[in-house]
Amino acid sequence: MEDRVKVVVTGAAGQIGYSLIPRLIDGHTFKNKIVDLELVEIPQVVDKLKGLVMELEDSNFPNMGDVNFSSDFETAAKNADWFLLVGSIPRGIVHNGKKIEERSDLLQINGGIFLEQGKAIGQYGKSNAKILVVGNPANTNALIGRNAANNNSQLWMAMTMLDSNRAKSILSKKLNSDIANISRMIIWGNHSPTMYPDYENILVNGASTFIGQDAINDMDWINNEFLPTVQQRGKAVIDARGASSATSAAKAALDTVIACENPTALGDCFSAAVITDGSYDMPEGIICGMPLMALSDGSVEIVKDLSLSDFAEKKIKISTDELIEERSAVQDLLK
Ligand SMILES: NC(=O)c1ccc[n+]([C@@H]2O[C@H](COP(=O)([O-])OP(=O)(O)OC[C@H]3O[C@@H](n4cnc5c(N)ncnc54)[C@H](O)[C@@H]3O)[C@@H](O)[C@H]2O)c1
Repeated sequence: MEDRVKVVVTGAAGQIGYSLIPRLIDGHTFKNKIVDLELVEIPQVVDKLKGLVMELEDSNFPNMGDVNFSSDFETAAKNADWFLLVGSIPRGIVHNGKKIEERSDLLQINGGIFLEQGKAIGQYGKSNAKILVVGNPANTNALIGRNAANNNSQLWMAMTMLDSNRAKSILSKKLNSDIANISRMIIWGNHSPTMYPDYENILVNGASTFIGQDAINDMDWINNEFLPTVQQRGKAVIDARGASSATSAAKAALDTVIACENPTALGDCFSAAVITDGSYDMPEGIICGMPLMALSDGSVEIVKDLSLSDFAEKKIKISTDELIEERSAVQDLLK
């Protein structure tokens, strides 16, 4: 194997990190590429990564390259191809003597992290680097990071693949179809309970536009089961597990990498939130869940030729309004 890819993962000692990192080097995510890993943590826990690195070595993963760990993000960022930004401060933690409960406090604290990381990525990351923000509030963190990076040739995304995977799983049961037969599952808007999982534009067995609506034909189920179940699934997992989704979040991050690394099949798309550009009349300058396709030159574009019903547009507006509000709450970090 001659090709190498350098991947930075923050929050590497966290629960998503533990599930995610081994699978970056198992030969499935980056096929035929040696993967150099830069694992980043806060100084208080960085030493724990010694144990993870030992486990990676003991696993004999076929694609493992150089593995470094540190709390020095700038050094880690040098010439990196991919940034998986998982590390963030969770709600409920005591930070500087204050319990962080409010979304606005969470936005400010995590925004500060993404401001610094964004600057370093813009300056030291590869010019075609791809950045996937997983740490919440993911969309607004990505907006802050992208703004600070000030490097438009890099691609900033916030993760909505987990929501898309959840929606596919629920639809496959409703339609009595294998998950593999459901494609083009788009999550519009914010990665929050306002997100809109677009059941109308799905393809079932490759069949065309608005099949979702025809195939399901059960608005009661859509309104009272499908939409709330997808939107509230994160909380349901926390309630059941006593901890937030980790292995499914890690799988979704890997799915996003794979979707970007391989050209998208004609007619399909994948879900992630990217900076809006006016398509679908979305407000500009927010990081919003959109339909995306990867091209053979490695670039990723918004798929622009789908239709949205009045029902969908109304639901999406609730979510984009929320993103505009979040943006207002962090104006000071966007200068
Ligand atoms: N977008 C999604 O679909 C999705 C799904 C699940 C979880 N999440 C989010 O992912 C994040 C991580 O979840 P987790 O379960 O792994 O949490 P976790 O608390 O187990 O791990 C987070 C890790 O990030 C580290 N960290 C904090 N600040 C950092 C910084 N500045 N630089 C580097 N590392 C830093 C912490 O030390 C910790 O080890 C949370 O914000 C969670 O809400 C997002």
